[in-house]
Amino acid sequence: MTGLSEAIRRHRREGREAPIHCFTSIDSTNAEAHRLLENGSPPEGTAVLADAQTAGRGRGGRSWFSPPGAGLYLSVIFHPGGTAAPHLTLAAGVAAATALEQIAGRAPTLKWPNDLAYDGRKVGGILTEARAISGQIQTVVVGIGVNLLQRPEDFPAGLRPAATSVAAATGRQVDKAELAARILDELDAGHRLLGRDGFAPVADAWKQRSSTLGRSVRVIWGGGGAPVEGVAKDLAADGSLVIETPAGSVQVHAGEVQEIERTECFL
Ligand code: BTN
Repeated sequence: MTGLSEAIRRHRREGREAPIHCFTSIDSTNAEAHRLLENGSPPEGTAVLADAQTAGRGRGGRSWFSPPGAGLYLSVIFHPGGTAAPHLTLAAGVAAATALEQIAGRAPTLKWPNDLAYDGRKVGGILTEARAISGQIQTVVVGIGVNLLQRPEDFPAGLRPAATSVAAATGRQVDKAELAARILDELDAGHRLLGRDGFAPVADAWKQRSSTLGRSVRVIWGGGGAPVEGVAKDLAADGSLVIETPAGSVQVHAGEVQEIERTECFL
């Protein structure tokens, strides 16, 4: 699919040397990015894009619904140095939301840590996978999935109530090459900003788009620990979510955020 990589290059704002590997179908663009890392030294910003994934993966061991032609499946390789992987996840959310705002004409909101949503329905997600040697993060693959064209009935029944696509939410069929190019541009810019000015400006951009902060939430985290309930107050400097609970402030580093209804009783 060299035509697609050429089209993406044409849409880029700045010329970029890093290769873009395009596939008609692949198991997972994240898996392919890891294979590139195992078999060579792909430069920072190397991207993998596929028209379909046969084993698209999501967070928490879930799969990512990746039918042919209907979504954007994109992974980007970073050699992050001082940049923390959670910062890159949040920067990728901002990049994808900014790109969608510009190209689809409507901004999705960001749900901590990695969801993009229109009207509370998930339209995209980020899967960041870091590989460390001796505790030092060496490489990070940031995978971005966006549902582009699906109608509600195209989603598997289990996903249908909570999922949407750009077309369903905005009425627009966006050009995939243009969207991929814009996400890559925005992600480049976010990564440069992290390196130059640290996390604060990216955190500010994320907070402006957040649907999580200020809400009463329950965070379910792996390992069987008790859920944390309280009000999502802030992002901490490491990208974790600060929850104000009745017992005090708690930081959660990973997990599923559910919004909870608070019913006030006035007697
Ligand atoms: C999530 O919300 O659970 C994260 C979903 C990430 C999906 C993308 S699609 C491109 C890349 N390749 C994968 O296998 N997963 C990510």
